[in-house]
Amino acid sequence: MTSSNVRPETMERITTEALANAFIEEQIREIREQVGDGKVLLALSGGVDSSVVAALLIKAIGRNLVCVHVNHGFLRKGEPEQVIQVFRNEMNANLIYVDAADRFLEKVAGVSDPEQKRHIIGEEFIKVFDEEAHKLEGIGFLGQGTIYPDILESEKGIKAHHNVGGLPEEMKMELVEPVKLLYKDEVRVVGKALGLPENMVERQPFPGPGLAVRCTGAITRDRLEALRESDAILREEFANNGLAGKVWQYFTIVPDFKTTGIKDGARAFEWPCVIRAVNTKDAMTATIEEIPYALLAKITDRITHEVKGINRVLYDLTPKPTGTIEWE
Ligand code: XMP
Repeated sequence: MTSSNVRPETMERITTEALANAFIEEQIREIREQVGDGKVLLALSGGVDSSVVAALLIKAIGRNLVCVHVNHGFLRKGEPEQVIQVFRNEMNANLIYVDAADRFLEKVAGVSDPEQKRHIIGEEFIKVFDEEAHKLEGIGFLGQGTIYPDILESEKGIKAHHNVGGLPEEMKMELVEPVKLLYKDEVRVVGKALGLPENMVERQPFPGPGLAVRCTGAITRDRLEALRESDAILREEFANNGLAGKVWQYFTIVPDFKTTGIKDGARAFEWPCVIRAVNTKDAMTATIEEIPYALLAKITDRITHEVKGINRVLYDLTPKPTGTIEWE
């Protein structure tokens, strides 16, 4: 079903637990065949795709999978802590945690072009993994959570996803990409069948470069913190109001311009915060969630009062197309 020249357009889609189990068995066989006694290094971001790849690889090769969780500084609030808790403490994975936040922030300082930012972050990722690989003995493979829409959009040249494409020749690592022919919803069905925790399987998609693509233009530490805090408030309010499992993807964006406002009776020249909440099946097109007005007002009130540097909240009503889901 997933031999290398099969295109997903002609494959049976994975919609049931039985189909997911068949996929899992097949992938375990294929991974063992490809990897043998070799060791696989995996970038474990904690998102659905890499978590499912990690679980598949743990089933197939156990401790020969080395998971590396890089905190590049663009993760959501509480995320690195949760990855350590779930994978190291609960799943007993072979997990290395690398705090590289300062290093990434220095690399992208002053860089405002979106594709250049993605490129720098992608390149730095590869460097970090290369460094980790050199500290370890005999790593021959690189696991990746590439999914089919990543490949399609890269082929069309819409966007340079950091997690698709070439590794430097000298890294000598062969790719292991067991979910590369699946759509997001299928990855979730497989994740459930693998017994991953509900909150991990239902987690929203999150770009490899993370908050970096939502802190538009040249990233600064203070605006990045405002973004992280506003995103945490949005997620908390969606969870408290029954939208967390219902809306496909929701997040905030903090653009790199300021507008005039008033706080505590004084002029406040601060950033706006944009809310994005979309529904889609495969991320190729998307519609807008009709958030109840009262909830929008509450979120606006919380973000403008609790987040340092934000004086306005806007709701992006643009479907895909014409907008992409992310702003960069
Ligand atoms: P766009 O912005 O192209 O996003 O409409 C479509 C979906 O892809 C996610 N996305 C990424 N996922 N690596 C990923 O794994 C990335 O670099 C990346 N960039 C965007 C986006 O969040 C949306 O769900």
